[in-house]
Amino acid sequence: MSQKTSEELRQEVEKRRTFAIISHPDAGKTTLTEKLLLYGGAIHTAGSVKARKAARHATSDWMEIEKQRGISVTSSVMQFQYEGKQVNILDTPGHQDFSEDTYRTLTAADSAVMLIDVAKGVEAQTIKLFQVCSKRGIPIFTFINKLDREGQDPFELLEEIERVLGIRSVPMNWPIGMGRELCGVYDRMKSQVELFQGKDHSKIEVRKTSDYNDPVIREMAGDYLAEKLAQELELLDVAGDEFDYEKVRTGQLTPVFFGSAVNNFGVQTFLENFLELAPQPTERKTADGTVAPEEEKFSGYVFKIQANMNPAHRDRIAFLRICSGKFQRGMSVRHVRAGKEIKLAQPQQFLAQDRDIVETAYPGDIIGLFDPGIFRIGDSLSEGRDIVFNELPTFSPEIFSKVSIKNALKQKQYLKGLDQLTEEGMVQVFRSVGPFEDTYLGVVGQLQFEVFEYRMKNEYGVDIQLFRTQFQFARWVVGGKVDPTKFRINSILVKDKNDVNVALFENEYAMRTAMERMPELEFLEVAP
Ligand code: G4P
Repeated sequence: MSQKTSEELRQEVEKRRTFAIISHPDAGKTTLTEKLLLYGGAIHTAGSVKARKAARHATSDWMEIEKQRGISVTSSVMQFQYEGKQVNILDTPGHQDFSEDTYRTLTAADSAVMLIDVAKGVEAQTIKLFQVCSKRGIPIFTFINKLDREGQDPFELLEEIERVLGIRSVPMNWPIGMGRELCGVYDRMKSQVELFQGKDHSKIEVRKTSDYNDPVIREMAGDYLAEKLAQELELLDVAGDEFDYEKVRTGQLTPVFFGSAVNNFGVQTFLENFLELAPQPTERKTADGTVAPEEEKFSGYVFKIQANMNPAHRDRIAFLRICSGKFQRGMSVRHVRAGKEIKLAQPQQFLAQDRDIVETAYPGDIIGLFDPGIFRIGDSLSEGRDIVFNELPTFSPEIFSKVSIKNALKQKQYLKGLDQLTEEGMVQVFRSVGPFEDTYLGVVGQLQFEVFEYRMKNEYGVDIQLFRTQFQFARWVVGGKVDPTKFRINSILVKDKNDVNVALFENEYAMRTAMERMPELEFLEVAP
C-alpha cells in the first residue's frame, strides 16, 4: 500500500465512532437519537426519526407487525458527521420482545450508550443488552435521562448500576436539582456549570467555575441547591471512583452523564465527551488471530440479513460491518464460506431508511449488500487471504413451539421457507428423532415466532400452525453415544440442522437430573 493510502486509511479509522444505544423501551432512545442526528446535521427538523419510523411502516410489508404493535423489529444504521468524526449509530429494536438480531447487531458496535430513565432506573431489557456488551468488553457510556422529571436520587442510581450490572461508574456531570427544581448540571471534568434558562428551559447558559464551591453557583442556583451540590460532590470526590481511561476502555467503568433528551439538555456535552472518549474501531478476532482496521486488505462480516426491505423488489439486504481496509464499489472480494470471488456492485449505506449507493467506506462503517441469496449470517468477506471472523454469538433458545403446516400440498414451499428463514437466523430449527418427525422452532423472543408466521404466509404462501411447548432450555449433547429413551420425563431429544443431538428440557430440575445421570456426556448451551 502506498504511504498516502495507508495514511488515508489510518485517518479514516481514527475518525470513526460506531456505537449502539441500549435501553428499555420508553427511556427516550428515539428522542436521544434524533437530537444526536440534529447536531450532526443529518436531519433538520425534530420529529424526523419518528416520521421515518412511520414512513417505514408505510413502505414495508411484513413489517405490518411492527405497525400493529407500534414497535420496531428491525435495526437500521444512521450515519452523520460531527466535528470531524464520522459517527455510525446502530439502531436496535426497543421492545422487550426483541430477538437474536438485537444481540448480533451489538457485535457490530465498538461501544455502547446505555440510556436509563431517571425514575425507572435499570430495567429488564437494559440488563440483557448490557450483558451482551459487557461480555465483549466494549466501553459503555451511561446517559441518565428525563432529569426534568422527579426521579431517583442520583447516588441510588449509581448504586443500582453497580449492584445490578456489576459495573463501576464515574459521574462526569452532576444534577443541580431535579424535576421542577432542575436548574442545571455541574460538569466535573471542565469545572463549569450548565444552567437551564427560561421557563421552557429553551436556553442553556454555561459558566466557568473555580470548583463546585464557586459563589457563581450560589448566584445562579440559590443557596439550597448550591449547598446540596457542594455536599454531594464532596462526597463523590472522597468516596466515588476516579476517572480511569483504561478502565473505561475495557468496560470496567462507565462514565455517567445526566441530562434530558427531550429538552436537549446535556445532550451536546454528552455527545462531545462521548466522541472524545469512545474508541475508534479496533482489532477484531478471527479464526487464526486478529485483524487490525488499518490493514490494507478489506475484510468484514455479515451480522444481519433482512428480507423484503422493499416489497416492490423482494430484495434481501445483508448488513456488513467493515473490519479492515478500504471498501470500494465494484471491488472483488472472497466470499470465504462459499470459496469464491464475488463483486460488490451495489452497496448501500443508511440514514434511517434512506439508501444511498456507497462508493467508498472504511472500518467501522456498515454497508448493506444486495443479497441474491448467497449470504448467511456470520459470513466473512475478505480481500486477498481468507479471513474468518468469530464475532457472532449464538444464543440458547428459551421458547419453543412445535410447527406444522396447514395444507400438506404446500410442503415444498414450507421447507424452502423454513430453510431460508433459518439461514437468516430468524429461528432455530430442531427435528425430533423417531417414527413421527416433529419440527420444533426455538427462539429467544416471542416476537420471532410472530414474524416467522407472518413471513411464511406472505413470502412463501404457507399457513402454519404453532403450538407452544413447555420447553425452556436447549442443551447440545456431545461427547458420546446418546440414548434417546433417557430423555422422556420433562425432556425430549431432537436434532439440530447439522444433525447434532440437542436435549430440550421443561425445567432446570429435569436438566440437572439428566446431567447427573449421564456424567459421561457434555451438555452445551450453544451449538458446538
Ligand atoms: P424509546 O425510543 O426509548 O422508546 O423512547 P422515546 O424516545 O420514544 O421516548 C419515550 C417517551 O419519553 C416520549 O414521550 C418522549 O417524549 C419522552 N421523553 C424522552 N426524553 C425525555 C426527557 O428528557 N424528559 C421527559 N420528560 N420525557 C422524555 P411520549 O409521550 O411517549 O411520546 P411523545 O408524544 O412525547 O413523542
